[in-house]
Amino acid sequence: MFLAALATLACALSTLEARPLAKKFANSTNPFGPLTLKSDGTFQISIFEDLHFGENAWDQWGPQQDINSVKVINEILDAESPGLVVLNGDLITGENGFLENSTSYVDQIVGPLVDRGLTWASTYGNHDYDFNISGSTILAREKKWYNSRTTQMVFGEDAGVSNYYLPVFDSNCTDEACAPGLILWFFDSKGGFRYQQKDESGERVGQPNWVDFTVVEWFLQTNAELVNKYNKVTPSLAFVHIPTFASYVLQEGGVNPNTEPGINADLPLAPQAQGWCADGRNDGSCDYGGQDTPFMQAVSEVPGLMAVFSGHDHGNTWCYKWDRLLPNMTVAPHNDVNLCFSQHSGYGGYGNWERGARQVLATKSKLENFEVDTWIRLESGSVVGNVSLNGTYGSDRYPATNDTETYCPTCDY
Ligand SMILES: *[C@@H]1O[C@H](CO)[C@@H](O)[C@H](O)[C@H]1NC(C)=O
Ligand SMILES: *[C@@H]1O[C@H](CO)[C@@H](O)[C@H](O)[C@H]1NC(C)=O
Ligand SMILES: *[C@@H]1O[C@H](CO)[C@@H](O)[C@H](O)[C@H]1NC(C)=O
Ligand SMILES: *[C@@H]1O[C@H](CO)[C@@H](O)[C@H](O)[C@H]1NC(C)=O
Ligand SMILES: *[C@@H]1O[C@H](CO)[C@@H](O)[C@H](O)[C@H]1NC(C)=O
Ligand SMILES: *[C@@H]1O[C@H](CO)[C@@H](O)[C@H](O)[C@H]1NC(C)=O
Ligand SMILES: *[C@@H]1O[C@H](CO)[C@@H](O)[C@H](O)[C@H]1NC(C)=O
Ligand SMILES: *[C@@H]1O[C@H](CO)[C@@H](O)[C@H](O)[C@H]1NC(C)=O
Repeated sequence: MFLAALATLACALSTLEARPLAKKFANSTNPFGPLTLKSDGTFQISIFEDLHFGENAWDQWGPQQDINSVKVINEILDAESPGLVVLNGDLITGENGFLENSTSYVDQIVGPLVDRGLTWASTYGNHDYDFNISGSTILAREKKWYNSRTTQMVFGEDAGVSNYYLPVFDSNCTDEACAPGLILWFFDSKGGFRYQQKDESGERVGQPNWVDFTVVEWFLQTNAELVNKYNKVTPSLAFVHIPTFASYVLQEGGVNPNTEPGINADLPLAPQAQGWCADGRNDGSCDYGGQDTPFMQAVSEVPGLMAVFSGHDHGNTWCYKWDRLLPNMTVAPHNDVNLCFSQHSGYGGYGNWERGARQVLATKSKLENFEVDTWIRLESGSVVGNVSLNGTYGSDRYPATNDTETYCPTCDY
């Protein structure tokens, strides 16, 4: 993919003292400093998506799903050792929420993470936005813990909340000017409904379901500043709840079970700007409005971006390298970015595909070639879709992923 030579990934150290940066920036109240690669040069991310906590609080079934989802999180974290957990949208099923306690489900979600001393970073999904809940109220609840790295870097009515980036530094970088070895971008694809708003007929007010163009401008500008500051292209990964239209078109063209291993059961998938018209109406008269085009353009042309991870479509779990101009699209990709789904992690939300969580492993030596490894850890403990997102991804052959479903006797389906 992106073959520009890197000067070096190692940091230009102004001191020979090997002291973790984390210690330097941690303080007596907050034990967590910036993210760093481990001393062996690796950094692993566990992605939980579509946890959908808080369904049907008024009956037995709903709370039982939350118990099952906590169990999934514990099982996966017992099997994996991430340096960061990403909660990639639809943490909570907002339409079932009560104003007075809708965000309290955050406490249940992060319990297993706090127990293990892990930190996390969220993006918010369409179900995180409803009359009784919003990205802002969830973020406020997350901030009860220093473990939350979620933040808001773009402000404005249509920007959403979870738009920010996190640098991951070398384990031995002690200099503040040290360049990160990896950058993680988080985007808010919004959707759902506006918080505490109803229209004249008493209906909830829909919110656009794409990454806003002000966020795209911030992304492009901030990326350019980082390239300038460190005088190099830093490998990066991105997280956004709703996939873009490019994933839809790639799927239309066919997903090969051996070269893009994963479940492909949500067909056609639902992309950003679905259900909206190009003129901004969302009255059910249009399939797709195209408003995610600026975001797709940016994702396809920012050098060093290796992969974008989404959820939303619970029945899709493949990664597809977007390496060519696709039918019906005007955006021609520049940098062969991989568009990946994760795995439905929660017992809430539709579908009984076996719950699990995608893992992403960055290794310093592979980052030099803008490559990362990824696999899905299922609730049963098995690993599927273990692939390398490298220069030949898309032509390398892997075992197909079985479409296993979770049978849960206590689930009351
Ligand atoms: C920091 O790590 C890099 C690469 O892992 C290594 O080349 C360098 O010697 C290390 N520096 C120190 C001070 O340990
Ligand atoms: C400790 O770090 C936290 C988070 O970075 C910050 O909000 C707080 O002000 C810091 N406290 C001190 C005493 O520096
Ligand atoms: C939130 O409030 C509702 C309604 O009072 C209640 O049924 C539900 O159990 C509460 N949820 C939590 C997590 O406290
Ligand atoms: C929002 O919360 C209030 C207060 O708990 C509740 O009465 C209402 O049913 C909830 N949902 C909506 C859509 O208003
Ligand atoms: C392109 O658009 C046409 C007309 O809407 C549609 O029939 C066709 O399936 C689309 N092709 C792809 C690959 O999406
Ligand atoms: C994924 O595959 C690689 C290469 O075959 C292997 O080394 C690694 O252990 C596998 N990872 C998991 C989690 O099974
Ligand atoms: C990419 O990874 C696969 C699986 O490990 C491997 O077979 C292939 O040779 C790798 N391609 C490159 C260019 O390294
Ligand atoms: C998929 O399921 C079949 C039949 O149960 C089994 O033989 C095969 O090993 C499974 N494949 C993988 C990759 O787990």
